Amino acid sequence: MMKLWEGTIPLLAEEGWRDSLIEDGAPGWSARRYCSADLLLRLRPIGLALRATPSALSLGSAHPPLLCEEGHKFHDVAATFINGTKIAEDIKREVASELEDLKHRGIQPGLAVVLVGDDAASSAYVNMKAKTCEQLGFYSRKLTMPSSLSTDQLLCEVRKLNQDDAIDGILVQLPLPKHVNKHAILESVDPQKDVDGFHSANVGSLVLGHETLVACTPLGVMEVLRRSGVKIEGANAIVLGRSDDVGKPQAILLMHANATVTICHSKTRNLPDVVRQADIVVAAIGKTAMVTRDWVKPGAVVIDVGTNKVSDRAEVQRLFGDDPTRWKDFEKRGYIWVGDVDERGVKEVASMMTPVPGGVGPMTIATLMKNTLKAARTRRAV
Ligand code: GUN
Repeated sequence: MMKLWEGTIPLLAEEGWRDSLIEDGAPGWSARRYCSADLLLRLRPIGLALRATPSALSLGSAHPPLLCEEGHKFHDVAATFINGTKIAEDIKREVASELEDLKHRGIQPGLAVVLVGDDAASSAYVNMKAKTCEQLGFYSRKLTMPSSLSTDQLLCEVRKLNQDDAIDGILVQLPLPKHVNKHAILESVDPQKDVDGFHSANVGSLVLGHETLVACTPLGVMEVLRRSGVKIEGANAIVLGRSDDVGKPQAILLMHANATVTICHSKTRNLPDVVRQADIVVAAIGKTAMVTRDWVKPGAVVIDVGTNKVSDRAEVQRLFGDDPTRWKDFEKRGYIWVGDVDERGVKEVASMMTPVPGGVGPMTIATLMKNTLKAARTRRAV
């Protein structure tokens, strides 16, 4: 049996082994194709021994082959799915604990959510936000308006909330009916109560790097990256999508975290080639399973912000084969939620990725709660 050298994971990570191409393995060992520093850190919690052949070490190679024990192999070393639900629960617990402290000082921060019209999905989101608020200990108010409401009438409601001392955060659920001037409404929210981070004053502060309220989804992505131990500094990060609510603030946040950021969109040339340069991919382009395995650099971290409704059987089959969980969901509801990333293929090359559902989605409400607490602390100076 060939003698194998075993190092500790932190040591290997510190030595900066990245993208080591593994082409063969010793008997009894299965070869891993790639290993990145991120992967090493990821393997530590499951206690998987990583070993290098002595010949590689004696050659002083900066990229010795890494082998892992047969039996652990591919399913253990395929991408780790980041559990967004668990991270969101952690954040909500932290917020609830701070709210408990404030309660002892006689302070109860409040969030108002405004729903215009009766869109079923928006209504479900708003109810979820209000319910989470109550569970954590916020004061929560839900305003439901008819879709016939004019821009002026909605402006009037927002102004009342701006002046209401019980309300620290205001969220006007989007999309608004077409006849309502969305820009005017978002700009009418007091920037100090703008827990969506959509007001131009808050967007400007974000760009300048000032402490401010930042859009919930990109903030959630940053929490996911940080709490999963992803090294952002110096990483090549690709943001796929340039929307005001996700792509643009996401790129700014990553840049402030010292990533080298590229924003890609529908007109980007050679999109797969560009995405393949990334250590971190944030997909927020709204196209079902657009990011396929061949777009992703081995070892990259892939964050999927997409939530696309798929109600076509053939497409479910194409994307997930016979995956029983997906089919169970599909049979129950008549559709499933699918991200912008082709999960089945990408998990074979990425080191970590977020699933859909259960990845970024739950984070958005958790960061909304965090923003509401932050808005209250700032406004009330507590
Ligand atoms: N609709 C879907 N997502 C959001 C969000 O983050 N904020 C608001 N205001 N509306 C939404």
